[in-house]
Amino acid sequence: MNHFERDADGVLHGEGVSLIDLADAVGTPTYVYSEATFSRHYRVMDEALSGVDHLICYSVKANSNLAVLQLLASLGSGFDIVSAGELARVIAAGGDPAKVVFSGVGKRDDEIAAALRAGILSINVESGWELERCAAVAEELGIPAPISLRVNPDVDAKTHAYIATGLRSSKFGVPFEEALPLYRFAHASPHLRIVGVDCHIGSQIVEPAPLVEALERVLELVDTLQSEGVQLHHIDMGGGLGITYKDERPAPPKAIGEAYAARLAPRGLQLLVEPGRVIAGNAGLMLMRVLGTKVNGTKTFVITDAAMNDNIRPSLYKAWQDLVPVTLDAEKEEQVVDVVGPICESGDFFAHDRPLQTMQRGDLLAMRSTGAYGFSMASNYNSRTRAAEVMVHGETYTVVRPREQVAELFASERLLPHVK
Ligand code: LLP
Repeated sequence: MNHFERDADGVLHGEGVSLIDLADAVGTPTYVYSEATFSRHYRVMDEALSGVDHLICYSVKANSNLAVLQLLASLGSGFDIVSAGELARVIAAGGDPAKVVFSGVGKRDDEIAAALRAGILSINVESGWELERCAAVAEELGIPAPISLRVNPDVDAKTHAYIATGLRSSKFGVPFEEALPLYRFAHASPHLRIVGVDCHIGSQIVEPAPLVEALERVLELVDTLQSEGVQLHHIDMGGGLGITYKDERPAPPKAIGEAYAARLAPRGLQLLVEPGRVIAGNAGLMLMRVLGTKVNGTKTFVITDAAMNDNIRPSLYKAWQDLVPVTLDAEKEEQVVDVVGPICESGDFFAHDRPLQTMQRGDLLAMRSTGAYGFSMASNYNSRTRAAEVMVHGETYTVVRPREQVAELFASERLLPHVK
Protein backbone atom coordinates (compact mmCIF):
# COMPACT_ATOMS: atom_id res chain seq x y z
CA MET A 1 0.00 0.00 0.00
CA ASN A 2 1.22 3.49 -0.76
CA HIS A 3 -0.06 7.03 -0.58
CA PHE A 4 -0.04 7.91 -4.29
CA GLU A 5 -3.68 7.98 -5.33
CA ARG A 6 -6.00 9.87 -7.67
CA ASP A 7 -8.59 12.39 -6.58
CA ALA A 8 -12.15 12.47 -7.99
CA ASP A 9 -10.90 14.37 -11.07
CA GLY A 10 -8.37 11.66 -11.89
CA VAL A 11 -5.38 13.74 -10.77
CA LEU A 12 -2.59 11.77 -9.12
CA HIS A 13 -1.61 13.01 -5.67
CA GLY A 14 1.24 12.28 -3.29
CA GLU A 15 -0.65 12.16 0.02
CA GLY A 16 -2.61 15.45 -0.04
CA VAL A 17 -0.42 17.17 -2.66
CA SER A 18 -1.50 17.42 -6.30
CA LEU A 19 1.34 16.29 -8.55
CA ILE A 20 0.28 18.92 -11.10
CA ASP A 21 0.83 21.67 -8.54
CA LEU A 22 4.05 20.08 -7.41
CA ALA A 23 5.43 19.85 -10.96
CA ASP A 24 4.50 23.50 -11.57
CA ALA A 25 6.26 24.60 -8.41
CA VAL A 26 9.38 22.43 -8.48
CA GLY A 27 9.72 21.52 -12.15
CA THR A 28 10.51 18.14 -13.69
CA PRO A 29 11.99 15.59 -13.57
CA THR A 30 11.42 15.26 -9.84
CA TYR A 31 11.44 12.32 -7.48
CA VAL A 32 8.47 12.49 -5.14
CA TYR A 33 8.54 10.51 -1.90
CA SER A 34 5.74 9.99 0.61
CA GLU A 35 6.65 10.26 4.27
CA ALA A 36 3.55 8.32 5.34
CA THR A 37 4.45 5.48 2.98
CA PHE A 38 8.04 5.28 4.21
CA SER A 39 6.82 5.18 7.81
CA ARG A 40 4.18 2.60 7.02
CA HIS A 41 6.62 0.29 5.25
CA TYR A 42 9.07 0.55 8.15
CA ARG A 43 6.35 -0.29 10.65
CA VAL A 44 5.08 -3.25 8.60
CA MET A 45 8.60 -4.68 8.64
CA ASP A 46 8.99 -3.98 12.33
CA GLU A 47 5.70 -5.70 13.17
CA ALA A 48 6.49 -8.63 10.87
CA LEU A 49 9.56 -9.32 13.01
CA SER A 50 7.85 -8.79 16.35
CA GLY A 51 8.21 -12.50 17.21
CA VAL A 52 11.97 -12.17 17.63
CA ASP A 53 14.44 -9.66 19.05
CA HIS A 54 15.43 -7.74 15.93
CA LEU A 55 17.05 -4.68 14.41
CA ILE A 56 16.09 -3.32 10.99
CA CYS A 57 19.16 -1.94 9.22
CA TYR A 58 17.70 -0.05 6.27
CA SER A 59 19.92 -0.49 3.22
CA VAL A 60 21.12 3.02 2.45
CA LYS A 61 21.98 2.28 -1.18
CA ALA A 62 18.28 1.99 -2.05
CA ASN A 63 17.64 5.66 -1.33
CA SER A 64 20.23 7.65 0.55
CA ASN A 65 18.62 11.07 0.73
CA LEU A 66 19.33 12.55 4.18
CA ALA A 67 15.64 13.18 4.81
CA VAL A 68 14.86 9.50 4.21
CA LEU A 69 17.64 8.44 6.57
CA GLN A 70 16.53 11.01 9.16
CA LEU A 71 12.93 9.78 9.02
CA LEU A 72 13.91 6.13 9.37
CA ALA A 73 16.38 6.90 12.18
CA SER A 74 13.56 8.67 14.04
CA LEU A 75 11.52 5.46 13.78
CA GLY A 76 14.37 3.48 15.37
CA SER A 77 16.01 2.11 12.25
CA GLY A 78 19.62 1.08 11.98
CA PHE A 79 21.45 1.17 8.66
CA ASP A 80 23.27 -1.10 6.24
CA ILE A 81 26.05 0.83 4.52
CA VAL A 82 28.53 -0.07 1.79
CA SER A 83 30.96 2.86 1.83
CA ALA A 84 32.45 5.60 3.98
CA GLY A 85 30.20 7.96 2.02
CA GLU A 86 27.09 6.17 3.21
CA LEU A 87 28.43 6.15 6.78
CA ALA A 88 28.89 9.92 6.60
CA ARG A 89 25.32 10.31 5.32
CA VAL A 90 23.92 8.22 8.19
CA ILE A 91 25.80 10.31 10.74
CA ALA A 92 24.78 13.59 9.05
CA ALA A 93 21.14 12.46 9.17
CA GLY A 94 21.30 11.71 12.90
CA GLY A 95 21.51 7.92 12.61
CA ASP A 96 23.06 5.92 15.45
CA PRO A 97 26.43 4.39 14.41
CA ALA A 98 25.91 1.64 17.00
CA LYS A 99 23.08 0.39 14.76
CA VAL A 100 25.16 0.36 11.56
CA VAL A 101 26.42 -2.68 9.67
CA PHE A 102 29.01 -2.28 6.93
CA SER A 103 28.51 -4.60 3.93
CA GLY A 104 30.35 -4.82 0.64
CA VAL A 105 32.73 -7.07 -1.19
CA GLY A 106 35.82 -4.85 -0.80
CA LYS A 107 36.45 -2.23 1.87
CA ARG A 108 39.42 0.12 1.89
CA ASP A 109 41.55 0.57 5.02
CA ASP A 110 40.37 4.16 5.44
CA GLU A 111 36.75 2.98 5.29
CA ILE A 112 37.41 0.27 7.90
CA ALA A 113 39.08 2.93 10.07
CA ALA A 114 36.12 5.33 9.70
CA ALA A 115 33.75 2.53 10.71
CA LEU A 116 35.83 1.62 13.77
CA ARG A 117 36.15 5.24 14.88
CA ALA A 118 32.40 5.74 14.52
CA GLY A 119 31.75 2.65 16.69
CA ILE A 120 29.55 0.67 14.30
CA LEU A 121 27.80 -2.59 15.23
CA SER A 122 29.40 -4.90 12.68
CA ILE A 123 31.73 -5.02 9.73
CA ASN A 124 30.35 -7.71 7.46
CA VAL A 125 33.55 -9.24 6.14
CA GLU A 126 33.61 -10.95 2.76
CA SER A 127 37.06 -12.54 2.44
CA GLY A 128 40.14 -13.72 4.29
CA TRP A 129 42.17 -10.69 3.24
CA GLU A 130 39.45 -8.34 4.42
CA LEU A 131 39.46 -10.04 7.80
CA GLU A 132 43.22 -9.53 7.99
CA ARG A 133 42.83 -5.84 7.05
CA CYS A 134 40.20 -5.42 9.79
CA ALA A 135 42.60 -6.92 12.34
CA ALA A 136 45.49 -4.72 11.12
CA VAL A 137 43.49 -1.48 11.14
CA ALA A 138 41.95 -2.36 14.51
CA GLU A 139 45.41 -2.95 15.98
CA GLU A 140 46.68 0.36 14.60
CA LEU A 141 43.75 2.28 16.07
CA GLY A 142 43.54 0.29 19.29
CA ILE A 143 39.83 -0.35 18.64
CA PRO A 144 38.86 -4.04 18.34
CA ALA A 145 36.86 -4.61 15.16
CA PRO A 146 33.35 -6.06 15.57
CA ILE A 147 33.01 -8.53 12.70
CA SER A 148 30.58 -10.93 11.09
CA LEU A 149 31.47 -13.08 8.11
CA ARG A 150 29.19 -12.89 5.14
CA VAL A 151 28.73 -16.49 4.17
CA ASN A 152 27.52 -17.62 0.81
CA PRO A 153 24.81 -20.20 1.45
CA ASP A 154 24.69 -21.31 -2.22
CA VAL A 155 20.94 -20.94 -2.63
CA ASP A 156 19.17 -19.68 -5.72
CA ALA A 157 17.20 -16.51 -4.97
CA LYS A 158 15.35 -16.89 -8.31
CA THR A 159 15.79 -13.28 -9.31
CA HIS A 160 17.57 -11.22 -12.03
CA ALA A 161 21.16 -12.43 -12.55
CA TYR A 162 22.60 -8.96 -11.78
CA ILE A 163 20.99 -8.89 -8.34
CA ALA A 164 21.30 -12.55 -7.29
CA THR A 165 24.20 -12.82 -4.88
CA GLY A 166 23.83 -16.08 -2.97
CA LEU A 167 25.09 -18.56 -5.53
CA ARG A 168 28.50 -20.17 -5.16
CA SER A 169 29.51 -18.62 -8.49
CA SER A 170 28.84 -15.03 -7.36
CA LYS A 171 31.55 -12.67 -6.12
CA PHE A 172 29.88 -12.27 -2.74
CA GLY A 173 30.59 -13.74 0.66
CA VAL A 174 32.86 -16.62 1.61
CA PRO A 175 32.02 -20.24 0.80
CA PHE A 176 30.67 -22.18 3.75
CA GLU A 177 33.70 -24.43 4.06
CA GLU A 178 36.00 -21.39 4.35
CA ALA A 179 33.91 -19.73 7.01
CA LEU A 180 34.91 -21.98 9.88
CA PRO A 181 38.72 -21.52 9.57
CA LEU A 182 38.19 -17.76 9.21
CA TYR A 183 36.02 -17.66 12.33
CA ARG A 184 38.73 -19.61 14.19
CA PHE A 185 41.30 -17.04 13.06
CA ALA A 186 39.01 -14.22 14.23
CA HIS A 187 38.34 -15.96 17.55
CA ALA A 188 42.06 -16.17 18.21
CA SER A 189 42.78 -12.54 17.29
CA PRO A 190 42.84 -9.95 20.10
CA HIS A 191 41.90 -7.29 17.54
CA LEU A 192 38.74 -8.91 16.26
CA ARG A 193 35.47 -9.33 18.12
CA ILE A 194 33.05 -11.81 16.52
CA VAL A 195 29.50 -10.44 16.71
CA GLY A 196 27.51 -12.38 14.15
CA VAL A 197 27.01 -14.32 10.96
CA ASP A 198 25.80 -12.50 7.87
CA CYS A 199 24.28 -13.46 4.54
CA HIS A 200 22.39 -11.78 1.70
CA ILE A 201 21.24 -13.90 -1.22
CA GLY A 202 19.86 -11.31 -3.62
CA SER A 203 17.27 -8.67 -4.26
CA GLN A 204 13.65 -8.53 -5.46
CA ILE A 205 13.02 -12.00 -3.98
CA VAL A 206 9.32 -12.79 -4.06
CA GLU A 207 9.23 -16.29 -2.58
CA PRO A 208 10.11 -16.94 1.07
CA ALA A 209 11.62 -20.41 0.44
CA PRO A 210 15.17 -19.34 -0.59
CA LEU A 211 15.40 -16.95 2.38
CA VAL A 212 14.33 -19.63 4.84
CA GLU A 213 16.68 -22.13 3.23
CA ALA A 214 19.53 -19.63 3.61
CA LEU A 215 18.70 -19.15 7.30
CA GLU A 216 18.72 -22.89 7.86
CA ARG A 217 22.16 -23.18 6.30
CA VAL A 218 23.41 -20.27 8.41
CA LEU A 219 22.07 -21.93 11.56
CA GLU A 220 24.14 -25.04 10.83
CA LEU A 221 27.22 -22.83 10.94
CA VAL A 222 26.00 -21.11 14.11
CA ASP A 223 25.66 -24.52 15.81
CA THR A 224 29.23 -25.42 14.90
CA LEU A 225 30.53 -22.05 16.08
CA GLN A 226 28.71 -22.30 19.37
CA SER A 227 30.04 -25.81 19.91
CA GLU A 228 33.53 -24.29 19.59
CA GLY A 229 32.73 -21.68 22.21
CA VAL A 230 32.19 -18.75 19.84
CA GLN A 231 29.44 -16.50 21.23
CA LEU A 232 27.34 -14.58 18.72
CA HIS A 233 25.22 -11.49 19.18
CA HIS A 234 23.18 -11.70 15.98
CA ILE A 235 22.38 -13.30 12.67
CA ASP A 236 22.09 -10.87 9.77
CA MET A 237 19.86 -12.18 6.97
CA GLY A 238 20.47 -9.22 4.65
CA GLY A 239 17.80 -7.63 2.52
CA GLY A 240 16.10 -8.75 -0.63
CA LEU A 241 12.34 -8.69 -0.09
CA GLY A 242 10.61 -7.99 -3.38
CA ILE A 243 7.86 -5.54 -4.22
CA THR A 244 5.10 -5.26 -6.79
CA TYR A 245 6.25 -3.38 -9.87
CA LYS A 246 3.66 -4.95 -12.20
CA ASP A 247 1.95 -8.17 -11.20
CA GLU A 248 4.46 -9.75 -8.82
CA ARG A 249 2.89 -11.15 -5.68
CA PRO A 250 5.71 -10.99 -3.13
CA ALA A 251 5.32 -12.99 0.05
CA PRO A 252 4.18 -10.60 2.79
CA PRO A 253 6.97 -9.62 5.23
CA LYS A 254 4.89 -11.20 8.00
CA ALA A 255 5.21 -14.68 6.43
CA ILE A 256 8.99 -14.33 6.30
CA GLY A 257 9.15 -12.73 9.75
CA GLU A 258 7.25 -15.64 11.27
CA ALA A 259 9.46 -18.21 9.54
CA TYR A 260 12.55 -16.40 10.85
CA ALA A 261 11.15 -16.02 14.36
CA ALA A 262 10.20 -19.70 14.64
CA ARG A 263 13.81 -20.68 13.95
CA LEU A 264 15.60 -17.90 15.81
CA ALA A 265 13.63 -16.93 18.90
CA PRO A 266 14.42 -20.21 20.73
CA ARG A 267 18.16 -19.55 20.32
CA GLY A 268 18.15 -16.11 21.92
CA LEU A 269 20.02 -14.53 19.01
CA GLN A 270 19.12 -11.11 17.67
CA LEU A 271 17.96 -10.99 14.05
CA LEU A 272 19.22 -8.25 11.77
CA VAL A 273 17.70 -7.56 8.37
CA GLU A 274 18.82 -5.09 5.72
CA PRO A 275 15.73 -4.18 3.70
CA GLY A 276 16.02 -1.48 1.06
CA ARG A 277 13.56 -1.90 -1.77
CA VAL A 278 10.63 -3.11 0.35
CA ILE A 279 10.80 0.09 2.40
CA ALA A 280 11.66 2.64 -0.29
CA GLY A 281 10.50 1.20 -3.62
CA ASN A 282 6.82 2.03 -3.59
CA ALA A 283 7.32 5.10 -1.39
CA GLY A 284 8.47 7.12 -4.39
CA LEU A 285 7.69 7.98 -7.99
CA MET A 286 9.41 10.03 -10.65
CA LEU A 287 7.50 12.91 -12.17
CA MET A 288 8.39 13.94 -15.71
CA ARG A 289 6.98 16.05 -18.49
CA VAL A 290 6.44 15.09 -22.10
CA LEU A 291 8.69 17.16 -24.38
CA GLY A 292 6.95 15.92 -27.50
CA THR A 293 5.97 12.89 -29.54
CA LYS A 294 7.03 11.58 -32.91
CA VAL A 295 6.26 8.75 -35.28
CA ASN A 296 9.21 6.98 -36.93
CA GLY A 297 8.18 4.18 -39.23
CA THR A 298 5.77 2.01 -37.32
CA LYS A 299 6.68 3.36 -33.89
CA THR A 300 5.25 6.20 -31.87
CA PHE A 301 7.68 7.72 -29.40
CA VAL A 302 6.81 9.75 -26.34
CA ILE A 303 9.90 11.77 -25.44
CA THR A 304 10.15 12.86 -21.83
CA ASP A 305 12.37 15.33 -20.00
CA ALA A 306 13.61 12.46 -17.79
CA ALA A 307 16.11 9.97 -19.16
CA MET A 308 18.19 6.90 -18.34
CA ASN A 309 20.54 9.06 -16.27
CA ASP A 310 17.58 9.82 -13.95
CA ASN A 311 16.44 6.22 -13.71
CA ILE A 312 18.57 3.51 -15.21
CA ARG A 313 16.54 0.46 -14.13
CA PRO A 314 14.72 -0.14 -17.46
CA SER A 315 17.97 0.22 -19.46
CA LEU A 316 20.17 -1.74 -17.09
CA TYR A 317 17.89 -4.58 -16.02
CA LYS A 318 15.12 -4.38 -18.64
CA ALA A 319 13.05 -3.63 -15.55
CA TRP A 320 9.35 -3.00 -16.09
CA GLN A 321 8.33 0.25 -14.42
CA ASP A 322 4.75 1.45 -14.38
CA LEU A 323 4.17 4.67 -16.33
CA VAL A 324 0.93 6.51 -15.67
CA PRO A 325 -0.44 9.86 -16.79
CA VAL A 326 -0.72 12.29 -13.90
CA THR A 327 -4.18 13.25 -15.17
CA LEU A 328 -6.38 10.39 -16.29
CA ASP A 329 -8.64 11.47 -19.12
CA ALA A 330 -11.28 8.96 -20.21
CA GLU A 331 -11.85 10.98 -23.43
CA LYS A 332 -8.33 10.25 -24.65
CA GLU A 333 -7.58 7.10 -26.60
CA GLU A 334 -4.92 4.60 -25.67
CA GLN A 335 -1.88 4.29 -27.93
CA VAL A 336 0.94 1.77 -27.96
CA VAL A 337 4.14 3.79 -27.59
CA ASP A 338 7.80 3.71 -26.65
CA VAL A 339 8.53 6.09 -23.79
CA VAL A 340 12.07 7.39 -24.18
CA GLY A 341 14.41 10.06 -22.85
CA PRO A 342 16.49 12.60 -24.78
CA ILE A 343 19.86 10.86 -24.32
CA CYS A 344 21.91 9.97 -27.39
CA GLU A 345 21.60 6.21 -27.33
CA SER A 346 18.88 3.70 -28.04
CA GLY A 347 19.35 2.22 -24.58
CA ASP A 348 17.69 5.35 -23.23
CA PHE A 349 14.14 4.11 -22.81
CA PHE A 350 11.60 3.68 -20.03
CA ALA A 351 9.15 1.41 -21.87
CA HIS A 352 8.78 -0.35 -25.19
CA ASP A 353 5.41 -1.02 -26.84
CA ARG A 354 3.49 0.24 -23.84
CA PRO A 355 -0.24 0.98 -24.04
CA LEU A 356 -0.64 4.50 -22.68
CA GLN A 357 -3.25 7.23 -22.75
CA THR A 358 -2.42 9.53 -25.70
CA MET A 359 0.23 11.99 -24.57
CA GLN A 360 1.15 15.36 -25.95
CA ARG A 361 3.74 18.02 -25.29
CA GLY A 362 3.41 19.40 -21.77
CA ASP A 363 1.56 16.41 -20.27
CA LEU A 364 2.86 14.97 -17.02
CA LEU A 365 3.80 11.33 -16.58
CA ALA A 366 4.72 9.48 -13.40
CA MET A 367 6.99 6.47 -13.22
CA ARG A 368 5.86 4.54 -10.18
CA SER A 369 7.86 2.34 -7.80
CA THR A 370 11.02 4.39 -8.15
CA GLY A 371 11.69 5.20 -4.48
CA ALA A 372 14.43 2.54 -4.41
CA TYR A 373 17.42 2.44 -6.78
CA GLY A 374 16.06 5.47 -8.63
CA PHE A 375 17.81 8.67 -7.61
CA SER A 376 20.54 6.69 -5.84
CA MET A 377 21.64 5.29 -9.22
CA ALA A 378 21.23 8.56 -11.12
CA SER A 379 24.18 10.02 -13.00
CA ASN A 380 25.13 13.15 -14.87
CA TYR A 381 25.53 11.37 -18.22
CA ASN A 382 25.18 13.83 -21.10
CA SER A 383 25.94 16.56 -18.53
CA ARG A 384 22.36 16.45 -17.38
CA THR A 385 21.67 17.88 -13.97
CA ARG A 386 20.15 15.43 -11.52
CA ALA A 387 16.46 15.61 -10.68
CA ALA A 388 15.03 17.38 -7.65
CA GLU A 389 13.79 15.26 -4.73
CA VAL A 390 10.71 16.14 -2.73
CA MET A 391 9.15 14.56 0.37
CA VAL A 392 5.41 15.04 0.70
CA HIS A 393 3.81 14.94 4.12
CA GLY A 394 0.07 15.42 4.36
CA GLU A 395 -1.01 18.55 2.51
CA THR A 396 2.49 19.90 2.19
CA TYR A 397 5.98 19.02 1.04
CA THR A 398 9.67 19.71 1.54
CA VAL A 399 12.22 19.92 -1.27
CA VAL A 400 14.79 17.54 0.20
CA ARG A 401 17.25 18.05 -2.66
CA PRO A 402 16.87 20.96 -5.01
CA ARG A 403 17.43 20.32 -8.69
CA GLU A 404 21.13 20.28 -9.44
CA GLN A 405 22.39 23.39 -11.26
CA VAL A 406 24.56 23.35 -14.37
CA ALA A 407 27.33 25.26 -12.56
CA GLU A 408 27.57 22.43 -10.01
CA LEU A 409 28.33 19.93 -12.78
CA PHE A 410 31.90 21.01 -13.36
CA ALA A 411 32.61 23.27 -10.39
CA SER A 412 35.36 20.91 -9.20
CA GLU A 413 36.94 20.33 -12.62
CA ARG A 414 40.22 22.07 -13.55
CA LEU A 415 41.66 23.37 -16.82
CA LEU A 416 45.20 22.36 -17.79
CA PRO A 417 47.51 25.23 -16.80
CA HIS A 418 49.95 24.59 -19.69
CA VAL A 419 47.38 24.67 -22.50
CA LYS A 420 46.70 28.15 -23.86
N1 LLP B 1 22.15 -5.89 1.95
C1 LLP B 1 23.10 -6.11 1.03
C2 LLP B 1 24.39 -6.70 1.43
C3 LLP B 1 22.85 -5.81 -0.32
O1 LLP B 1 23.79 -6.05 -1.25
C4 LLP B 1 21.60 -5.25 -0.70
C5 LLP B 1 21.32 -4.89 -2.07
C6 LLP B 1 20.64 -5.02 0.32
C7 LLP B 1 20.95 -5.36 1.63
C8 LLP B 1 19.30 -4.42 0.04
O2 LLP B 1 18.56 -5.25 -0.80
P1 LLP B 1 17.00 -4.95 -1.06
O3 LLP B 1 16.25 -5.16 0.22
O4 LLP B 1 16.89 -3.56 -1.54
O5 LLP B 1 16.64 -5.93 -2.12
N2 LLP B 1 20.09 -1.74 -8.19
C9 LLP B 1 19.32 -2.97 -8.18
C10 LLP B 1 19.31 -3.61 -6.80
C11 LLP B 1 20.69 -3.92 -6.30
C12 LLP B 1 20.68 -4.53 -4.92
C13 LLP B 1 22.06 -4.63 -4.38
N3 LLP B 1 22.14 -5.08 -3.03
C14 LLP B 1 17.91 -2.67 -8.67
O6 LLP B 1 17.63 -1.53 -9.02
O7 LLP B 1 17.09 -3.58 -8.75
